[in-house]
Amino acid sequence: MIPPRLKYTSGALKVLDQRLLPDKVHYLTARDGAQTAAAIKDMALRGAPLIGCAAAFGFAMELRRLAPKNSAQLAAAAKKAADQLKAARPTAVALFYAADRMRDKALAFAAANPGAYGPAQRKALGAMLDREARLVTAEDEAACLAMGRHGAKLLPKNCVIMTHCNAGALATMGIGTAVGVITEGRKAGKVRHAYSCETRPYLQGARLTIWELMRDGVPSELITDNMAAHIIKTCGVNAIVVGADRIASNGDTANKIGTYALAVIAKYHRIPFYVAAPTPTIDLKARDGGDIIIEERSCEEVTYVKGNRIAPKGVKVRHPAFDVTPASLITALITEKGVIKPVSRAGISRQLAK
Ligand code: MRU
Repeated sequence: MIPPRLKYTSGALKVLDQRLLPDKVHYLTARDGAQTAAAIKDMALRGAPLIGCAAAFGFAMELRRLAPKNSAQLAAAAKKAADQLKAARPTAVALFYAADRMRDKALAFAAANPGAYGPAQRKALGAMLDREARLVTAEDEAACLAMGRHGAKLLPKNCVIMTHCNAGALATMGIGTAVGVITEGRKAGKVRHAYSCETRPYLQGARLTIWELMRDGVPSELITDNMAAHIIKTCGVNAIVVGADRIASNGDTANKIGTYALAVIAKYHRIPFYVAAPTPTIDLKARDGGDIIIEERSCEEVTYVKGNRIAPKGVKVRHPAFDVTPASLITALITEKGVIKPVSRAGISRQLAK
C-alpha cells in the first residue's frame, strides 16, 4: 500500500513530502492557499491529478483564513485564492480545473447569499468548500479505477509494459493513471513485467514509480531513460503507457519530458503507445500542443543529484519539464469514460459529450 498522499482536516492539509521518498515517509503541513501553492511549486507533491486535489483543499483553507465579511469580499477572495494556486505550476491543467471549480462554487455561494456574513454564513461556506474539495478527490479516485480497468482490457496477454515518470498512486488520490493500468493489468493476469524509466532530471521513475511497482508486487525493473530503445528492441516490450498533464483538443499530449522520445521509439517498433488520463486533463481551449505552456524548471535540478553537483560550475542548462507528443503517435487515450481510439478532435469531443 502507498501511504496517503494528502490528509485533510478543515484547518490543515498534511502532504506526503514526495521529495524525501522512497527513503522517508514524512508529512508537511499546509494551512492556507500560499502554503499549498508553495508545496506544489516546490514539488513536495506533484503529478497532475494530485496537484488539482491539493489545490482544492488549499482553496478551502484560504477562504476560511480570509473569513469574508460579506458577499463582495467573498467574490474578491475567491478570485484571488484561485489565481494564487494557479500560479504554482503552468502545465498541468488539473490545477486550473480544480482552482476554477472551487472559485465558481464560492462565487455561486456569494450570488446565492448576498449581503453581510456572520459566523453562520462563514461556517456554511467552509463546509460547502470542504465538501467540494472532497468531491474533487473522490472523483479522481473513481476515475483512476475506471481508467485502470479500461486500460487493462487493451493490453495483450503476457504483456511487457514500459512507463515513464510517475503516473501512479503518488500522482493521484487513487491507484494512478498509467500505473493503475499496469496494476489492473497485472490483476487480470496480463502483465508479465514492467519497466520504469528513471525520468531525468527529477527521477520520478527511479524514486517513485519503481517503488510503487515493487510495493504492488509487479515484477519490474528500473532503467535509465537512454536504455529505453534498446530494452524495447531486445526485451519484448509490447506496450507503453504514460500519464498526461494536459491534452489539447486534438489529442496532442503534454507529459513529462522524455515522453515524446518514447512515443517515437514506439512508432518505430510498431508497439502501442497509450496515454491514460482523466477527462479534466483535456483542455478544450488548447487547439493543439502549440497552445500548451511548457514549464521550465531550475538549472539546479539538472546539474545536481541529491545535493551533489554533476556538471561543471557555470554551465548553461535547459530544463523543459514537459514535452508534447503529437496525437498521431498516440494509439489511444484511456479516460475514465472509456477509450478514445483513434485519437482525434472528433473522438475527443464525442467522449466528452458522454
Ligand atoms: O513534474 P511532475 O512530477 O508533476 O510530472 C508528472 C507527470 O508528468 C505525470 O506523468 C503526469 O502528471 C500524469 S500523473 C497521473
